[in-house]
Amino acid sequence: MNRTPNRASGIGRSIRAALLSIASLVVACAPALAQTATAQKSAAPAVASGGLPYQQALDGAYAKFKDLKEGKNADYIPALAKVDANIFGIALVTVDGKVYTTGDITSEVSIQSISKVFTMAKVMEEQGPDAIKNNMGVDATGQVFNSIVAVEQYKGAEMNAMVNPGAITATSMVSGASRDEVWNKILSFYSDFAGRTLSVNQEVFKSEAETNQRNQAISMLMYAYGHIKDKPLQACDIYTEQCAASVNAKDLAMMAATLANGGKNPVTGKQCMKVDNVPEVLAVMATAGLYDDSGKWLYWTGLPAKSGVGGGILAVSPGKFGIAVISPPLDAAGNSVKAQKAIAEVSNALGGNPYAAKPR
Ligand code: DON
Repeated sequence: MNRTPNRASGIGRSIRAALLSIASLVVACAPALAQTATAQKSAAPAVASGGLPYQQALDGAYAKFKDLKEGKNADYIPALAKVDANIFGIALVTVDGKVYTTGDITSEVSIQSISKVFTMAKVMEEQGPDAIKNNMGVDATGQVFNSIVAVEQYKGAEMNAMVNPGAITATSMVSGASRDEVWNKILSFYSDFAGRTLSVNQEVFKSEAETNQRNQAISMLMYAYGHIKDKPLQACDIYTEQCAASVNAKDLAMMAATLANGGKNPVTGKQCMKVDNVPEVLAVMATAGLYDDSGKWLYWTGLPAKSGVGGGILAVSPGKFGIAVISPPLDAAGNSVKAQKAIAEVSNALGGNPYAAKPR
């Protein structure tokens, strides 16, 4: 009488044991299966989560916008007015290091305000994540990028490192015993993100240094209000030099992809900044990266991004890719017309908007 249940539980034990060994086999094989799947994926045409192959998305945007004639080169820095307005290059780098490009990919422009992202990151690396927030703040000003009204409103606080007062202050916070030491640290930090040694466009640097009296005034005000601690005009000069760093679209896309990849350059493998500092940098880019048009940009794309008056914009799709476009003609807010349109087109085609989650 007792045997049946015993036998039944004996059979149950064997079934359980068999199931357990199948389960452990599956667990043991999972990484290999996943690797096979990844290998198959990379062997297949490179398609993003939005469904379109990357190269096709880039080529489509290039064809769609290449003849657009809106906007005008910046001319308040005389050397920028002379840059070829027809330069138009698009580059995208995925977090697994695949590079896609189209259009003019060799011409370089000055990085200008895009540099502000990386100087902010450098200060956070040296002084901890709150150094920027505690000194100039992390809030949008709603004002133009070189607004003095924005400084006056809260005596140099309650702003951010993407507008000139906050950016020059951030540059002043990079440590170094001499101007050279500060400068070399900044340029080599940018170069790590780009994955190659960057240099400075001396003509642009000289041209802006001769005409940057407004930024000098902003620097003195930030010094007067105690945000810049020392040598305000040196900070302004180094900031002017950092804005003249010369980049092509691929450099900018690589810098963006490094941010998309938790601070690790997806091609060189170098961890350029702490993974924990990346979300804060992206947050400030999202709220202030395209200045007083940042809200419209975020509404349109959902992407943290940064523009420069040299005509570049880079944008970050976290965990997916970095994208950048160079095209010098700007709109009234100081953002490249074609770059905004092309990045939005490509990213939306590829499912790059981090807010666009699909229901499960
Ligand atoms: O300080 C300036 O005015 C320039 N070096 C940078 C401004 C800039 O790029 C604003 N961008 N949209």
